[in-house]
Amino acid sequence: MPETTPVQGPSSRALPHELPASLRGAGASDWIREPLDDAVDRRRRLIMPPTVAVMGTPASAYHGAMMAESRQPDTIFMMGDNPALPKMPERPALKDFFLLRFPPFSRGHLLQSARLARLNGHDEKVITACLLHDIANAGLLRSNHGYWGAQLVGPYVDEEVAWAIEKHEALRYFADESVGYTYPDAYVDYFGPDYSPPEYVRREHEAARRHRWYMTSRLVTINDLYSFDPAAVVDFDEFEDIIGRNFRQPGEGLGFDGSPVAHMWRTMIWPNNFL
Ligand SMILES: [Fe+2]
Ligand SMILES: [Fe+2]
Repeated sequence: MPETTPVQGPSSRALPHELPASLRGAGASDWIREPLDDAVDRRRRLIMPPTVAVMGTPASAYHGAMMAESRQPDTIFMMGDNPALPKMPERPALKDFFLLRFPPFSRGHLLQSARLARLNGHDEKVITACLLHDIANAGLLRSNHGYWGAQLVGPYVDEEVAWAIEKHEALRYFADESVGYTYPDAYVDYFGPDYSPPEYVRREHEAARRHRWYMTSRLVTINDLYSFDPAAVVDFDEFEDIIGRNFRQPGEGLGFDGSPVAHMWRTMIWPNNFL
């Protein structure tokens, strides 16, 4: 069935001159990959912005513009490898996603968090959970990142590790003075001092506090707190042994093992596929 092409933009559309200089370049033309001079295939490739990423923003109006653009000669939608991204190996491992897909800031945050957990003497489950806790906002989706992250790694880690990753999202919003965890200053900056988490997050937090694995997830939040240092460099290989023992890397590669979450890893390999 052909896709419809509503061109109407949301009323919140900002005019280019109203945007800060750092955002001004993020116009529709940034979704078009012109062929490189030495490209064998001379066709232009259009990237349709992921629906959920642009919903509620002016960029949602690009849908119609992109469909119209695709009718230009020698123009197709992006499928498969995007030449702007490093090529992933045929059987990608966790390390490949860290190094070839996650942005440096997110990669650094995860590695620093895991290092902090190790320096604090925590066991390998906690260190693994720290290493993976924000894997969803590093490579897939930010909203509900604890849940997406837990699902991504679920088939490959101990159930307790996935549980801790899922629940850290809710636990981050609630202090536990008994272990020295206070509401993050960063959240006051991010969301404003008046932000109050929705009811379902409150319920998740209360249930998690009564769970036998509560402290595993709480330790993720404790080691999460102080680990944003964009200057610090932590080598992924520092955790090679721990990953080897705690992450069941599929032989076919992440994304190709037929697991219920393989498609989520493939989405990170080819994030710009039209379908
Ligand atoms: Fe998080
Ligand atoms: Fe985090």
